[in-house]
Parts: sequence; C-alpha cells; structure tokens
Amino acid sequence: MVPTVEWKDGAVKLLDQSRLPGQVQFVLCRHYHEVGEAIRELKVRGAPAIGVTAAMVVALGAQSVESTDYDEFTKHVEAIGADLAATRPTAVNLFWAIDRMMQLLRSLKGKPVPEIKQELMRESQRILEEDIALNRAMGRHGAELIRDGQTILTHCNAGALATAGFGTALGVIRAAWAQGKKIRVLADETRPVLQGARLTAWELMQDQIPVTLITDNMAGAVMRGGMVQLCIVGADRIAANGDVANKIGTYSVAVLAKAHHIPFYVAAPSSTIDLKTPTGDAIPIEQRAAEEVTSLFGGTSVAPEGVPVLNPAFDITPAEYVTAIITERGVFKPHELAKHFCQ
Ligand code: MRU
Repeated sequence: MVPTVEWKDGAVKLLDQSRLPGQVQFVLCRHYHEVGEAIRELKVRGAPAIGVTAAMVVALGAQSVESTDYDEFTKHVEAIGADLAATRPTAVNLFWAIDRMMQLLRSLKGKPVPEIKQELMRESQRILEEDIALNRAMGRHGAELIRDGQTILTHCNAGALATAGFGTALGVIRAAWAQGKKIRVLADETRPVLQGARLTAWELMQDQIPVTLITDNMAGAVMRGGMVQLCIVGADRIAANGDVANKIGTYSVAVLAKAHHIPFYVAAPSSTIDLKTPTGDAIPIEQRAAEEVTSLFGGTSVAPEGVPVLNPAFDITPAEYVTAIITERGVFKPHELAKHFCQ
C-alpha cells in the first residue's frame, strides 16, 4: 500500500483520498494550515490517520514559530492545536494526538526551543510508527475470530487508508488473509461520501483480497440470504460504556447483524477509546454539507434544488449491539473497556 501520510523533506505528504480511486495523487503541505484544510476536506480521513496527521500538523506548525522564548513559543503552538481541534469533532484520535504533543511540549520546559522543535518532529514520527504497530497487533488478535471460508461485511473504510498503514477492521481482514484463510469481503458503498465504494474496494483490490461491493440498503438482504458470517467495522470514538461512534450507517448494520445472529465486531486502537465520555449520547456528531447528500460525490445532482437535508457524518451504535471490541491489547466485551484501559 502507498503511505497515507508521511514526512517528506520537512513537509507533510498526503495521499489525496478525495481523488481515489480515479487518481493516485499526493499533496505536499509545507504550511500547517494546508494540512488542517486537507483534514476538513477528507483528503486524509479515518480516525487513526487523522490522529497521526494532527501530530504532524502540530510539529510542522511548531517549526514555523519564530520565537525562541519558551512561553511565547508554547502560546503559538497551543493556538495551532486549537485551530486543528476545530477541524472534525467526532474522531477522538484528533484530540488524543494534539494532547500528546502538548504534553510533550510541557514536559520539555527549560530546553532550548530548537531542541523542542526537533523533539516534536520525532514524536509525530513515533505516533505514526506506533499506529502501524498497533494495527498489526489488532490484526493478530482479530484474525483469531475469522474462520476459513467466511464472508465479512464492512462499512466505510477502516483500512490502511484510514490509518498510517495496515488498517483496523481491514487490518484484521488482512491478517486473516495472510494466515491463508479463504475469506471474502462485502463492502457497503457508504453513502454519502462513498468511502466503501471508492476506498475499501480499491484498497482490497490492490491486495487481491476478494471484495464485492454492495449498496448500503443491500446489507439486510445479504444477511438474510446467509451470505454474511461476521461484520467488522472501525470506530471514530468509543465511550466508556462501550457505545461506538462510527460512519453513518454503522448502527443500521449492527441492528441488522443482531437480528440475524451475526457477530458484530469493532476494531479500534486505544487512542479511539475515550473514557472521559461516559456514553455515546455525549459524543459530538459532525454535521457536514448538504451537497454531499444532494449530489453523487460532488458530481451529478440527485435531488431538487433547495430540499432540506440531514447529513450527520457519524452515528452511535449502542454497546448492546457490539459483540466485542478488537484492540491492540486483545478482544474485549464493550463493558470491559473501562477496566482494561485506564486513562
Ligand atoms: O468521515 P471519515 O471517512 O473520516 O470516517 C471514517 C470512519 O468512519 C471510519 O470507519 C473510522 O474512522 C475508523 S478508521 C480506522
């Protein structure tokens, strides 16, 4: 897989996911504002990838601060973090990464600013590398849940593209495939922005993992027809009680899975678990532009002009619909999270 995000000669290089699958194009961001804009415009998306990129934004922004006075420097870097925090509200990895960078900054008080700048760059690279390692660990744990010959339904894109590499839900699928299990994936297209059709289908085809694309409203029929043995999705935020925020439509898949006695798994790293948020009701849900719904991926309009539109980008799946959560530390029941992940 091509890297989703990486450092390139002191700039942040992003794979522009808004152009996939038609074009594999990269953008080189030299200014931190450009990266923030890329997050907003879904050029880079997926909770863990947003987190990794956010850490790089803080590091990139810090390089451009001229002051060598620690307090002045810190004030500027904090302002960069605050700007960045306003880009997308649901994925907690964004806030997790900003916090981690700010904590490092505070811990370095007393060191010369040029040294702190270097440390921030190093920390962002560590976060990137850790993300890939966590995904591989999740893959090892999750692959045990998949048996040879099974078909797995997934929603949105929780793959290498949504992370620094390997993926969460698709990482589990990749790991099972690497073990030689003959599995098949059904990918929901994921209206309105089509992450399933554009990204999951593309990513799995790159790796030659068998994938069949379905529209979102086919999920019930394929489950009823016995074509699905398990569902695996990613998450943008998991509340302390195990409620899961993920791409809009995930809740419908979970309810359908329960009705058909199909296990419904969520794969997510610990940076997606937010114990400060007690339940899913307290998770902020991003509302996006009406045009995403009234047109087909920015192209043909499919609705009368001026029609009122709802466009929440995420929904909440209550913990009772989640069979288990696959993390880098193992597989847990939703209610066990708070015990295993103290923050
Ligand atoms: O709006 P997006 O494309 O950022 O939404 C992405 C998702 O909902 C993913 O399922 C989630 O971030 C998990 S990614 C490993």
